[in-house]
Amino acid sequence: MNQVDYLRISLIDRCNFRCQYCMPEGTELDYILKQNLLTNQELLTLIQEVFIPVGFTRFRLTGGEPLLRPGLVELVEAMASLPETQDISMTTNGFLLAPVAQNLYNAGLRRINISLDSLDSDTFNQIIGNKKIDHRGRSQWQNVWDGIQTAYQVGFDPLKLNVVVIPGINDCEILDLAALTIHKKWHVRFIEFMPIGNSELFTGKGWIASAEIRQQIRDRWGLTEAEVCGNGPADIFKIPGAQGTLGFISQMSECFCDKCNRVRLSADGWLRPCLLNETGQIDLKTALRQGVSMTTLREQLQELLTVKSEINFKQRYSGTTTGNYSRTMSQIGG
Ligand code: GTP
Ligand code: 5AD
Ligand code: SF4
Repeated sequence: MNQVDYLRISLIDRCNFRCQYCMPEGTELDYILKQNLLTNQELLTLIQEVFIPVGFTRFRLTGGEPLLRPGLVELVEAMASLPETQDISMTTNGFLLAPVAQNLYNAGLRRINISLDSLDSDTFNQIIGNKKIDHRGRSQWQNVWDGIQTAYQVGFDPLKLNVVVIPGINDCEILDLAALTIHKKWHVRFIEFMPIGNSELFTGKGWIASAEIRQQIRDRWGLTEAEVCGNGPADIFKIPGAQGTLGFISQMSECFCDKCNRVRLSADGWLRPCLLNETGQIDLKTALRQGVSMTTLREQLQELLTVKSEINFKQRYSGTTTGNYSRTMSQIGG
């Protein structure tokens, strides 16, 4: 059985963007009330007393948008300083990154994944569904770009850029985005669009398979297999001679459930065994606040890990990975 030692922690379900593929404008979301968010102390207790003893050593902070979470730098510092932590990373939309990148690095964060779905400011704004200009008169795209540049200068490595490929919207930019890896040690990952969050957009033009994207890139520059540090399901290649790599996350065209190494903790403390299937989920926040013993929680987690591989596959066999899912990625934690 696969070793499950990677915990994705959603720190907040709110987001300052409204990406069309995630939580499009107009989506009614019941945000988690502040008092129901796990506090930093509760998170650290769970990590130290429950997850680490059961074998978890790799952690990713996600959202919603994790940079909206108060006390983030302190949390990173505390997590990074645990001797058992082998890897701590973050997935962010990058909008608020520039001013805190150095503090996050100093706190011990060393790698970061930033969404960058387009190099064109108008297309970008169309995808993220936000007003065009911020209060300082700069485009949202410019803020994200500054965040990426700052993270690079600060030394985040690997620095990964996530592109959800949406047919008819940003698929014309595949080569331009891939070219970012040539001269800089940036790692661009193309993600197959999943029917989570916006099934309408999905049923329109569907998704583009990684194999097709790879072929476009191969035809232009050639491609060779490569490696980059990471815990996720991406298949890694590179343009010959490029400094960075290209990753392909192919959850629609390939089933990587048999290699799944992760569980997810929602911002309100639900431990979920699978992105697409909530069977067996555990309400850790309530248990913690009711004083359930750490021994019992560890046993429950062990039990969940024992049945996880069976849970992983259920949704796929029932066909729901291409159907509806009631939660958005912002609620599940990417
Ligand atoms: P690395 O450790 O850098 O490899 O990160 P990662 O790829 O695990 O993390 P990231 O948050 O950047 O995830 C990128 C995308 O991969 C997500 O937004 C999802 O689209 C997809 N993904 C991540 N985990 C899963 C999973 O368990 N199942 C499925 N179907 N897709 C996933
Ligand atoms: N399909 C694929 N990936 C998605 N993400 C959000 N919604 C979807 C979707 N419908 C991913 C994006 C972003 C991360 C937070 O979640 O890659 O980087
Ligand atoms: Fe976009 Fe991420 Fe926010 Fe979803 S959580 S709206 S993918 S930035």
